[in-house]
Amino acid sequence: MPTTPLITSVQSASNKVTLNWQNFCGPYQVWLKRSPTDPHWQAVTGPQHSETATIGVLYSNAFFRVSGPSPRFAGDRACEECHAGVHASAMATRHARAYKLLQDIGQQNNQSCLPCHTVGYGTATGFRENDPRRAHLAGVQCESCHGPAALHAANENDPLVRPRVEIAGQLCGGCHMGVHQPDYPHPGLYEDWAGSGHAIVTEDMNPASRINSCGRCHSGSSRLALLKGLDPAVAVAGDANIGVSCVVCHDPHQNTTHPLQLRNPVASTNDYFLTTTEAFASKYNPSINLCAQCHNHRGATWTSSGRPPHHSPQYNMMLGSIGELPAGIAPAGASAHGRRIAKQCVGCHMPTQEFEGQSESVTTRHTFKVESYQSCAPCHPFPEPLAQFTMQAVSAQIDQLKQALDLWATSKAPEALRTKYGVRAWEYTVPGDLSSGGEGPTAAEQAQVPDAIKKARFNLYLVKYDGSYGVHNGPHSIKLLDAARSWIQEELNK
Ligand code: HEC
Ligand code: HEC
Ligand code: HEC
Ligand code: HEC
Ligand code: HEC
Ligand code: HEC
Ligand code: HEC
Ligand code: HEC
Ligand code: HEC
Repeated sequence: MPTTPLITSVQSASNKVTLNWQNFCGPYQVWLKRSPTDPHWQAVTGPQHSETATIGVLYSNAFFRVSGPSPRFAGDRACEECHAGVHASAMATRHARAYKLLQDIGQQNNQSCLPCHTVGYGTATGFRENDPRRAHLAGVQCESCHGPAALHAANENDPLVRPRVEIAGQLCGGCHMGVHQPDYPHPGLYEDWAGSGHAIVTEDMNPASRINSCGRCHSGSSRLALLKGLDPAVAVAGDANIGVSCVVCHDPHQNTTHPLQLRNPVASTNDYFLTTTEAFASKYNPSINLCAQCHNHRGATWTSSGRPPHHSPQYNMMLGSIGELPAGIAPAGASAHGRRIAKQCVGCHMPTQEFEGQSESVTTRHTFKVESYQSCAPCHPFPEPLAQFTMQAVSAQIDQLKQALDLWATSKAPEALRTKYGVRAWEYTVPGDLSSGGEGPTAAEQAQVPDAIKKARFNLYLVKYDGSYGVHNGPHSIKLLDAARSWIQEELNK
């Protein structure tokens, strides 16, 4: 949390410059000078509370500075009176003992450690070593994340000095970064996360058609609003392009429901999915596996013909609860991985790294990728070749079935579809990644696609979009592909 205004962007247009900055509260003032050696800063705005300003500048060179109030820290005790509930839980997390960690190893006066283990270190009213009057600012507290809030504690109804509520990954990343790794500059949690798919938003989540529907899994701000029972279209309008940031998975205020401040458990065995249309509050289930909150099939069925199932069926695949099987074929059920790996997804996708001789230095990788096979070792002597063999075999079957569907499309599909769409005659209206070249049969024309082909393509896309090519649930993936093969064969034999 910056304690002085931090300019975040400078955009120039003809004879105009727009500045944006961030800080905990105003009033701010923008200053300008024309050369770095000029000792005089000239005020170009009056005091203002907004964190943006457009200035008409007539010089080809200009240097800007934004001034703001001096940060005034109060310490967590000052918040207790009015925020008793949050205070009791937030100050019971390990954040509160961050300074004690330094004392335990005699590093409490080490200036390089204090910025992340105390409140406001290095600023006029922040923590200071060997100063008993500042002892109440030891540890990570409310103001480490909300900015200096003494003005707010003294004037709680003044909206202009209300503390920041920030949910971007940088908030936590400012402290949870690589410096601590014994093998620094090995990436830390923040760097891991920032390079992962969770940090990005691939499609604009602000449109009204997306903010509540797609946003419940793709937008951190929309999801957090929904978790509080708010309507994202009102609560975060215009600000939904925040990915799956730290606080989507971690609730920084609690440490009792689940370890490590997690919002949900890391394992569960009940089937679950979240559609884009149902009321979030009636469908949300806090006791479902954290990853499965989003990595579920979203209500996909073989009867929908607009698009293939979404890319996210991993949880249901692990449980063996998605896909079509012919009558008489028993489902394979949950995989050994879903049943036996205590932390399920986290067990393989977020392995812990331990550093010798440092009892507490355990880091959970946050790239969310399966980066090492160490976690498989307790059960498999040669996990890497096993995984490669399985993935190659499943990919090869997917390719074969796609060829068989193309053959059906060009030889057996109803004439009208065959001439109009060629190899895409078996596809969804908006075809998936297995095809290229344009649209598939329209909504009306989908009625001409036999049910057997619809079930086959559904299974095929589920296995493909699961993305693990049989690792999440080998037996179930194989059953789905075998079923697809028999249905395609049936249609080819007609
Ligand atoms: C005298 C009572 C009082 C004290 C003391 C107080 N607050 Fe508040 N706080 C409030 C009120 C009232 C609100 C506004 C609640 C609302 O509008 O929903 C608020 C809101 C907040 C918010 C949310 C702002 C938002 O935009 O949603 C944060 C964060 C916060 N306070 C942090 C703190 C911190 C940190 C301290 C201690 C340094 C503190 N407060 C001390 C009464 C107080
Ligand atoms: C950039 C911010 C930052 C700085 C600077 C920093 N720390 Fe930390 N420290 C952290 C964070 C974040 C954690 C929690 C790590 C976790 O749980 O993943 C932590 C955890 C710790 C722990 C407990 C975990 C462990 O590794 O055993 C100790 C002890 C510690 N820090 C000591 C220090 C010392 C000593 C210094 C100065 C030499 C220092 N820290 C500097 C952010 C920082
Ligand atoms: C580790 C960082 C962190 C600490 C420490 C922390 N908070 Fe927060 N707080 C957040 C974040 C992030 C949010 C927004 C996400 C959320 O509501 O879960 C938030 C939200 C809030 C809100 C708004 C809640 C709402 O429902 O909109 C209040 C009020 C608040 N915090 C007060 C406090 C107080 C008081 C303390 C200290 C006792 C504190 N926080 C400690 C990070 C923190
Ligand atoms: C001012 C620095 C700072 C900020 C900001 C910060 N942390 Fe921490 N965090 C720490 C330190 C230091 C520790 C180690 C505390 C300990 O082990 O006692 C820690 C520990 C943790 C832990 C381990 C808790 C446990 O129970 O073992 C989690 C989880 C965590 N932080 C998450 C977050 C999240 C999420 C945010 C952002 C909302 C955040 N932190 C912001 C410094 C920070
Ligand atoms: C139930 C949660 C959920 C909902 C609702 C949801 N998605 Fe997704 N989506 C995911 C997950 C999880 C992934 C990542 C799957 C992966 O990487 O294999 C994903 C992946 C994607 C991708 C693919 C990104 C890539 O790497 O190719 C796109 C595009 C996408 N979603 C768009 C949307 C749109 C548009 C909507 C709204 C109509 C939406 N999603 C609704 C969970 C959801
Ligand atoms: C709030 C929803 C949400 C939660 C919770 C969630 N994910 Fe994701 N995940 C997504 C979305 C959305 C994407 C796709 C991002 C994109 O490509 O646009 C994704 C992508 C991924 C990817 C693809 C990796 C990459 O870098 O492209 C993996 C692997 C993954 N998630 C694993 C996990 C694991 C493991 C968990 C649980 C610890 C988890 N996810 C929890 C929504 C979520
Ligand atoms: C037995 C270990 C294991 C378990 C348990 C596991 N995965 Fe995976 N997962 C993998 C492997 C291996 C891959 C393929 C990785 C690759 O291609 O690099 C994968 C692929 C993925 C992908 C596609 C990655 C991408 O880059 O597109 C996502 C998303 C994913 N898993 C999410 C999950 C979720 C969510 C869970 C829990 C429901 C889970 N996984 C459980 C091992 C596992
Ligand atoms: C998609 C969900 C997800 C996101 C996003 C996420 N985490 Fe985590 N985090 C987890 C899970 C799950 C664990 C615990 C794994 C376990 O139980 O082994 C964890 C563990 C941790 C820990 C404690 C273990 C350790 O390595 O010291 C810290 C600290 C932490 N996360 C901080 C962060 C920070 C900071 C961010 C953002 C930069 C973040 N997390 C983003 C899911 C997430
Ligand atoms: C808790 C034990 C356990 C862990 C950990 C584990 N597996 Fe497995 N795995 C199994 C069991 C049991 C089977 C089923 C073997 C059988 O068919 O009898 C299996 C099967 C497999 C298969 C064959 C496909 C199938 O489902 O039949 C692959 C591939 C695989 N595991 C890869 C991995 C990888 C990669 C990891 C680590 C990222 C891993 N496993 C971690 C227990 C485990």
